[in-house]
Amino acid sequence: MSPAAERGAKLFFALWPGEAVRAALAAWSRELRALCGGRAPQPQDLHLTLAFLGSVESDRVGAIERAAGEVTPPSATLVLDRPGFWKHNRIVWAGASSPPPELETLVLGLRGALARSGVAFDAKRFVSHVTLLRDAREPASLPALEAIRWDVEGFVLAGSTQRPSGSRYEVLRTW
Ligand code: 2AM
Repeated sequence: MSPAAERGAKLFFALWPGEAVRAALAAWSRELRALCGGRAPQPQDLHLTLAFLGSVESDRVGAIERAAGEVTPPSATLVLDRPGFWKHNRIVWAGASSPPPELETLVLGLRGALARSGVAFDAKRFVSHVTLLRDAREPASLPALEAIRWDVEGFVLAGSTQRPSGSRYEVLRTW
């Protein structure tokens, strides 16, 4: 486990984009920021959360990694084709009008393995989204943007740490 995780990072499982998808998401983020303002994450921090564990005692990390090892890493294509805005947390996000069934299977598999291992996680209903802007203004309407094709191979365990400049993320392990 990296030093960042040992310093009380919040842990989560996620899909982490490669360079081309990251660049396309960052382009969406710039375009949407011109409409809605807000704060954009650093491009290298863009991700799609599958299961959020929060702060974890370091002696639980082994159980978390074993649980993840029970899950078959996905191989699927996710097409991000619609931006969205949530009023309650003022987030602008990238979403999919038809997420591939493999994504739901992955989330169920991961959450099931965590539950069997006694690892606590946020059990809120999964809504696939990549956060593009925080503290954004509600737009009158959202533009159509060029769809982003994301060939998903595997998933990661990541940690977030709070910095004066906002949250920063680190990939800790990949499956
Ligand atoms: P968000 O982008 O929609 O805020 C790291 O914080 C990641 O975990 C972010 O993608 C964040 O989603 C997500 N996250 C933070 N708190 C969460 C919670 N309580 N339940 C589910 N996901 C959460």
